Amino acid sequence: MSSDLFDKVKSIIQEIEDTKPGVAEELEQFRLRFLGTKNIIKPLMAEIRNIPNESKKAYGQLVNQAKQKAEAIFEKLKAESEQAADQTGGEGLDLTMPPYPQELGSRHPVSIVMNRIVSIFERIGFSVAEEREIEDDWHNFTAMNTPEDHPARDMQDTYYIKDSIEYLLRTHTSSVQSRVMTTQKPPIRIIAPGRVYRNETISARSHCQFHQVEGLYIDEGVSFADMKQTLLNFAQAMYGPDIKIRLRPSYFPFTEPSAEMDVYWGLENEIDYRITKGTGWLEILGCGMVDPNVLENCKIDPDKYSGFAFGMGIERQAMLAYNLPDIRLFFENDVRFLKQFKASM
Ligand code: PHE
Repeated sequence: MSSDLFDKVKSIIQEIEDTKPGVAEELEQFRLRFLGTKNIIKPLMAEIRNIPNESKKAYGQLVNQAKQKAEAIFEKLKAESEQAADQTGGEGLDLTMPPYPQELGSRHPVSIVMNRIVSIFERIGFSVAEEREIEDDWHNFTAMNTPEDHPARDMQDTYYIKDSIEYLLRTHTSSVQSRVMTTQKPPIRIIAPGRVYRNETISARSHCQFHQVEGLYIDEGVSFADMKQTLLNFAQAMYGPDIKIRLRPSYFPFTEPSAEMDVYWGLENEIDYRITKGTGWLEILGCGMVDPNVLENCKIDPDKYSGFAFGMGIERQAMLAYNLPDIRLFFENDVRFLKQFKASM
């Protein structure tokens, strides 16, 4: 009976000696088990009254030894854990610290400008149409009144899909016009943002991939005046109510008459002089009345319906909006560049 008690105390001493330094919680568990008010040594001390007189002294010493060991080891473990906390630069876990910042992405500048343009047209009743980037020859060229061997094809150096002259990377978003006109009935009022490709040498001013926004409006009795007013409304929403526009006669195979729209950028400084080539006017988009041949190609009766279309490049406008010197910046995916743009849409 009394030797059982000796063994119990000895095994506690063993347990104390075996304890390895650990995290703060383990240290606290150690304290509660061996030193706290309900520690496991205390009841063994009380057992001394059941020990025969001749062994009482030895038993008392053994229990004291357990207590002192526990105290000594606790002090040692505590010091070690505090030292470790110092090395990690603080007092362990600080729940009041702000969390690591969650890096939120931001919109690409091309998307910001593209979304702005689209939303201006959405406000006046245009709806978004999105289409494929790998297009067939018919939708990109032939339906758009640009048959094979038409010299206007040379204006848009093209990436054909390998071993095929049937499929290509669309050279303009005008391909969305023929897609929509062959699947929808007038009235048609769409705005089509997207990426286009041309086999161009990459430089600060041009790239083999870029973005356009296309617009198309087909209904009975749509006139050139409707187009001009729609585009003026766009220019004012985009560049401010005082912006001036002009329509210059131009040529596109799929519109007749065709025009290019300039906005008056001014000649206030050297950059203005350079980007407007000294005229103050800056070309923003191509436009015109949809050629009757295009309507016919898409099975829309040109005697009943008429319409206008326009197409504009995004990168140029984004470069103007953010004063950027080089179109290649848009396609390099450099976060140091991209994180500078913040927009809610
Ligand atoms: N698709 C023409 C281009 O890429 C722009 C355009 C669109 C012109 C619609 C007129 C009408 O240059």
